[in-house]
Amino acid sequence: METSRETGKLNGSNKLTTQYCLPSERLLEGKLQFGDSNPGSQLEELPSWFNLELARKGQKFARERLYGVFYAHLIALFYLLAQRDARKILYYTQKSHTPELALKRYLATLLQVKLWYDSDISDDLSCPFFTSLSTVRKIHHGMGQRVQAQHPDFSKPVIEEPTEDDEDSSQPRGKLWEAFKADLESSDLAQDILPLEENPSGFYYFSQYDMTSTQWSFVALPIMYSQKLGMYDVTDEELEGFVHLWAIISHTLGLEPHYNICLVPDLESFKAHANWIYENQYLPGFFDVNYESEVMWCALAEGVSHIFPFLNVENLLLQTLEDFIVAPSQNFRRKIGWITVYRRLFQKAIVEPLLNFKWFQQYCNNYVRETIAKVTESRMGLNSSNDVEISQRAYYY
Ligand code: HEM
Repeated sequence: METSRETGKLNGSNKLTTQYCLPSERLLEGKLQFGDSNPGSQLEELPSWFNLELARKGQKFARERLYGVFYAHLIALFYLLAQRDARKILYYTQKSHTPELALKRYLATLLQVKLWYDSDISDDLSCPFFTSLSTVRKIHHGMGQRVQAQHPDFSKPVIEEPTEDDEDSSQPRGKLWEAFKADLESSDLAQDILPLEENPSGFYYFSQYDMTSTQWSFVALPIMYSQKLGMYDVTDEELEGFVHLWAIISHTLGLEPHYNICLVPDLESFKAHANWIYENQYLPGFFDVNYESEVMWCALAEGVSHIFPFLNVENLLLQTLEDFIVAPSQNFRRKIGWITVYRRLFQKAIVEPLLNFKWFQQYCNNYVRETIAKVTESRMGLNSSNDVEISQRAYYY
């Protein structure tokens, strides 16, 4: 007899699951709980809400829209680096503050994420999909311990901000940031940063809320801004699949159901959570940007320009201001170079309209795939399509 697991409908429907996630305002309670309640461990059994068919739809969506989905991950990383807690941990682990380091770190992350989209998910917990997640869970566990040992005092900066006299061309350019901040100030964005409770334990751990917030950074933008990311004619069914896939990924990494914004009954509920986090945490976070964020933004933009060649930090900031935050940009535009203006025009007038066509989307998907394959081979000596090897590989350890 065919079991419900074989049909991939463990929750008995082809829709999202029932409501497990707390109301948005209560997500902050997760700030006081460990990000992984059972650190470094493996998933022992699939949750009752696991829906194979829906998860596979999510994978198919991500593969068919790979360019847009990866671009969304990049923009979201830009948002993430403005966030105090996230940038601190990434900064303190000291592996993304130069372009070369940033390229390797983000490529390593991209390889695992690509595997979660490419490698067929099954209910066998030893398949590469789940092996990769278990590898990442172990990386997270080791990371907390190392950071604690190396930096017992999180209030001390790792790199001192240079004075005006030492400013060199590889460092963030002061006037650019001043203009970016001036434009933000003149927008009508709320500036109040969430009153995130300080971790009272005295030692470093990442919390359930940090997990929720990082989950947001992977899953929210393709849903909130599919058109702006060049993903046209997206159906609710595709997006529900993507949300469900991320419910599984986050669960397997140790996110508890109460804080999993993907464990909701429908797309509207997901969007409500995503908007709440966006408006209360991510957007106000831009007013808290400091030298660490600037260093890491520059490194990110230059590092990933090996994968998205038209990128530079001016471009990323301009696009974030104009297309996503939707704030005025007149101060910033006065400080950027002609290459950025030209690239922006090219993106708006040529790339975005062309993305309406399936053949061009396909071209961009193939381009990104081939570039990732080449860079992975040259920088890491790995075959990016070898799921078994990638899934077991913790790049840094
Ligand atoms: C849904 C949530 C999350 C996902 C999907 C995720 C994904 C990943 C992936 C794929 C890697 C592996 C990169 C490699 O192979 O080197 C990674 C590493 C890492 N993650 Fe996460 N992560 C999540 C949550 C978090 C949180 C909450 C933090 C901390 C606040 C965090 C901090 C790190 C750090 C520091 C590393 C890299 C270690 C290093 O390079 O030193 N992650 N994560």
